[in-house]
Amino acid sequence: MPRMQGSAHREGHRRAPAQKLLLSMLLAGLLPLANGLCEFPASWSGLWFQTGKPEPVFVNSTILNNRTCHENRNDMYIIHEAEENCYRCMIINERHENVIQFREELWCRSLAPLEEMCNSISSDESLISMFRLDSRPIACPFTGAPFKFSYSRGLGECTNPVSHAESCTDESKLLLKYQACPDVERTESSTEELQCLATWKDGRNKYLVGTVKSVGRSIIASNEDMFRCFLYEKTPHHQGKVVYDLAQSEDATCNGLTSVAEGARTIKLTKVDKGHNRCTYPSWVTQHHDWHSLNGSKTYHFTARNATLKVRAQDNNDDSFHEEKIVCHNLQKLYPNDNMQGYTVKLVAHISSGCDSGYVCMMFHKRDGHIIEIQQSDHKAIMPEEACESWDPSTMPYTTLVTSMLHQRKCPHPGRYTIIDYGLSEMLPSPSRRQRRSMKPMRTAERRTWQDEGEEDECKNGAVEIGCSSTSQNEMSIDNSCETEKDAFLCHGSWEENGTWYTIASLRNSKLTSGQGQTYCFSMQTSDVPSKMTGRGSSSGDHHEQEFRLSARSHTCQRSLAEQWTYRLTSQGVCEDLTKAASSTASSSSLSRVSLVLSAGAALLCTLLSR
Ligand SMILES: *[C@@H]1O[C@H](CO)[C@@H](O)[C@H](O)[C@H]1NC(C)=O
Ligand SMILES: *[C@@H]1O[C@H](CO)[C@@H](O)[C@H](O)[C@H]1NC(C)=O
Ligand SMILES: *[C@@H]1O[C@H](CO)[C@@H](O)[C@H](O)[C@H]1NC(C)=O
Ligand SMILES: *[C@@H]1O[C@H](CO)[C@@H](O)[C@H](O)[C@H]1NC(C)=O
Ligand SMILES: *[C@@H]1O[C@H](CO)[C@@H](O)[C@H](O)[C@H]1NC(C)=O
Repeated sequence: MPRMQGSAHREGHRRAPAQKLLLSMLLAGLLPLANGLCEFPASWSGLWFQTGKPEPVFVNSTILNNRTCHENRNDMYIIHEAEENCYRCMIINERHENVIQFREELWCRSLAPLEEMCNSISSDESLISMFRLDSRPIACPFTGAPFKFSYSRGLGECTNPVSHAESCTDESKLLLKYQACPDVERTESSTEELQCLATWKDGRNKYLVGTVKSVGRSIIASNEDMFRCFLYEKTPHHQGKVVYDLAQSEDATCNGLTSVAEGARTIKLTKVDKGHNRCTYPSWVTQHHDWHSLNGSKTYHFTARNATLKVRAQDNNDDSFHEEKIVCHNLQKLYPNDNMQGYTVKLVAHISSGCDSGYVCMMFHKRDGHIIEIQQSDHKAIMPEEACESWDPSTMPYTTLVTSMLHQRKCPHPGRYTIIDYGLSEMLPSPSRRQRRSMKPMRTAERRTWQDEGEEDECKNGAVEIGCSSTSQNEMSIDNSCETEKDAFLCHGSWEENGTWYTIASLRNSKLTSGQGQTYCFSMQTSDVPSKMTGRGSSSGDHHEQEFRLSARSHTCQRSLAEQWTYRLTSQGVCEDLTKAASSTASSSSLSRVSLVLSAGAALLCTLLSR
């Protein structure tokens, strides 16, 4: 072990001489103190942890752990202890802005020359470490996670099963997933999060200080349990694989670490061969950098290299965010063909959020230039090969994503319809046993409370118009007489799946940017049903009638109409037949609005005149 003074000289040279000079000039001129110019470096100020001390150790330029600075040369400090009125030499070294180490005289004594006091400290004196509390973490010195690792607690190497270490979004953290080896004592499966706080070199030894926390345990660990020191070494392995050897300290000190082969625990990290199969997402996805879910709670951002996707999700009920990084790992299948123009792509992606990571299977579906849908397996696999195994996308929900700017598109099933019924889809009567049912309101919760029986019949007299108000047929209106005003929507794209049409539409009076969660999905189904003509409302004399079901607006494109609020409609014909009628109602309604404005104006005039 080299004499500590040696490293202190190096430290001294690193400090800016100009700054030092200025400081001493200031102090000499302005603060002629009784005990000379003794100060601890300003960079040491703060609160520190020292093993055995439950209270934080306070340090500022005059005080270190309740001791005042009396005299200083290089790393040697004579300190004064007020309580006993005695002196002591301390040899103090800053290893990193977050770590200070010192040795000191065992006995506090009367003042003697600095050399005499400090020379009595031998390098056998125990080295005491202080770790800064509330420190700024550093990036861990192990690059290239994920790793496989084996470990030992002194009773044999646990290699089988192999343990895994994973990177976290925060590069100061590494997640260590220990496995239990049945044939090795004192091995148990546990997960620990290492956060790196400081590294330094002393001779050929490389040190790391960090906190180690058990993941998934509710007990709050003390600083004594969390601070650990490591010796580490990077060795280029054969076959070019990088190996890191680590030895972990027994307690919250850096004592007892002599080589990477000895420690309370030794760990051997080996870089996992990830293969070079990073892939890029399909071009029809990456041509827009930003996508968001229909209610605006999730945003998907593709980074410039088209291989990484950052997902930001707003947590429910508050403004906090949850972020995920999804890296395309390998393409599995493209439908209908194998070039990137396929409309459905299946791929394996590496997903990470905080320190939680793994591989998932994903499907991307192109619905329109500005509409895609994503499906994702909910289990994170450790190995990429496992991600798509036994995953059945047909049972998984879809996340519908749109871009901020949406085009207007033709709505499917244009025509005029009247509402016969509205309710939870599976509870709607089949036409053969039509019966009077209560009409459930559209904006459910608050509406349901004041709804009374008398209004229900009135609610049923609604109408739906799809694509009738303009030649581009891109509008849809739902006029449910329970509502005070009818809702008008603009269609942005539709697709058909197994007989059901899905349409993305936004409220017409909202701006065209859908970021405000004003974008909805409607599903539509038509079916030929035998007509018994016992109900009201239909003018058709056929034995078959078209039944048309339209879901209430929803922020998800639900795959089955079951458990969804749904309108049952009958067709009143195509829009063309009704162009005249439509235009006449339009003009009459605008006429009535004009007369309303006129009467309001007249009322105002009256009040003015009467004054
Ligand atoms: C250091 O802390 C002590 C105790 O809190 C205080 O009296 C002293 O003024 C501080 N010194 C400086 C330079 O701030
Ligand atoms: C620090 O010293 C003061 C008196 O100088 C004493 O009252 C106090 O208890 C000491 N604090 C610690 C933590 O030793
Ligand atoms: C990413 O994708 C877009 C759209 O397909 C393309 O224009 C761009 O060149 C791609 N960038 C890279 C780095 O491949
Ligand atoms: C938005 O929709 C998602 C499902 O797609 C849901 O989990 C989330 O709670 C919704 N957020 C808001 C604010 O409605
Ligand atoms: C289409 O519908 C049929 C009958 O309802 C069902 O058996 C089949 O699984 C559906 N196909 C898809 C792709 O959803």
